[in-house]
Amino acid sequence: MAARTQNYVCQNCGAAYVRWSGRCEACGEWNTLVEEGSTAPAARSSRKGRLFAVEPLKGEPHEAPRLPSGMAEFDRVTGGGLVRGSVLLLGGDPGIGKSTLLLEVAAAFARAGHRAVYISGEEAVAQVRLRAERLGLADATVEIAAETAVEDIIATLSQGSTPRLLVIDSIQTMWTQRVEAAPGTVTQVRGSAGELIRFAKRSGAVVVLVGHVTKDGQIAGPRVVEHMVDAVMSFEGDGSHQFRILRAMKNRFGPTDEIGVFEMTGAGLREVANPSELFLSERDLGSPGTAVFAGIEGTRPLLVEIQALVAPTTLGTPRRAVVGWDPARLSMVLAVLEAHCGVRLSGHDVYLNVAGGLRIQEPAADVAAAAALVSSLARAPLPADAVYFGEVSLSGAVRPVAQTATRLKEAQKLGFTRAIVPEAARTEAPENFSLSTIATLANLVADIAHDGTPALRRVGRQDS
Ligand code: TYD
Ligand code: MG
Repeated sequence: MAARTQNYVCQNCGAAYVRWSGRCEACGEWNTLVEEGSTAPAARSSRKGRLFAVEPLKGEPHEAPRLPSGMAEFDRVTGGGLVRGSVLLLGGDPGIGKSTLLLEVAAAFARAGHRAVYISGEEAVAQVRLRAERLGLADATVEIAAETAVEDIIATLSQGSTPRLLVIDSIQTMWTQRVEAAPGTVTQVRGSAGELIRFAKRSGAVVVLVGHVTKDGQIAGPRVVEHMVDAVMSFEGDGSHQFRILRAMKNRFGPTDEIGVFEMTGAGLREVANPSELFLSERDLGSPGTAVFAGIEGTRPLLVEIQALVAPTTLGTPRRAVVGWDPARLSMVLAVLEAHCGVRLSGHDVYLNVAGGLRIQEPAADVAAAAALVSSLARAPLPADAVYFGEVSLSGAVRPVAQTATRLKEAQKLGFTRAIVPEAARTEAPENFSLSTIATLANLVADIAHDGTPALRRVGRQDS
């Protein structure tokens, strides 16, 4: 008996089901299951295997395997340039600037003398031209077309010289004749991506696929092709800020912890070589509840402001809201403040925000977050010339973190004169820079209480 085909596919994560249900059990999203045609007729054919040659691992690469774009921030995230024959997926919310970024990258390739082709499935050629004009790229030798049929695109590009770079904007608008499903469904997106990946491997062209991140499940999200491509980048930012951050989520040919920072301007994306300056530019000096965190993103130090608001709650269960940081990490810091530092927060709403729309993943931000929280609770502004970093353990101890010297040097470069750091950092101070070391979070609370208000002095004394 033939196996029953699984026909309902979640448009968010690609999980397949025999029966429809309102919620995808795999990813938990609602209303994302859509009926799709079955996919795998190839498995049933009894074709004999074709012979192919195997080669020794050791061999001479003929050409430079990497193609730098010349845009420093983009090259940093890709690990020094795009790798020939590789496929990169660029995901991000609609309107964040993916098309803008890739048109600029394509123009940079064209300027370097490479053939770059930009296929838009969303905009007409005239619209792409208009954007190029706005970006000051009207004279770039990028070739453009508005197409959505994958077979036609591949057939056209297989004629003449192979493009070095092919941008497909977006994968959700593409369709291939090989599968019977509507454009935008998981089956079509995967089928089209598969064809384009084969084209990249065969021709050596770099293929960049744009993928819109969707919340409503109307079209398949880029997650469904993440496992097929060589690299996944996400382009992030929030609507109220001009900063855009390019982050590598997966990269078979490079690091995944680097970020590229851009600023969206009226004339396109501007690369930001010194992001700390940008993230600190809107600093609100002298008000309580803000602390500057000296962080590291990849190989680069990054100073960013952490803002906290602690206010008496009117709710039975106080609110804990956090933007740009891990909510679990916030809960842990709050628990340590309660358990080991005598700071009572159970009657308070807590809001924590990382300025500039940045998302921090380092545990080293614990101390800075705690400082901002305590400063807000005590209404005691922190010194404007100090930076904070250190990891907090469940016992309340402040643990050392990596790359202390790099963090401190960046802080000094930006005009800070002191840092509140774990004890192990004592030996790493640059000249003319003072360090206050803290062994426990209770020390930090006591220090803020010492400079700050009587309310906190009372709290701080309980434990230290
Ligand atoms: P776009 O690249 O079309 O986003 P995506 O492809 O991710 O959907 O960018 C759209 C937004 O960027 C739009 O809100 C206008 C803004 N923008 C600028 O601010 N300056 C520019 O030079 C361009 C081209 C766009
Ligand atoms: Mg676009």
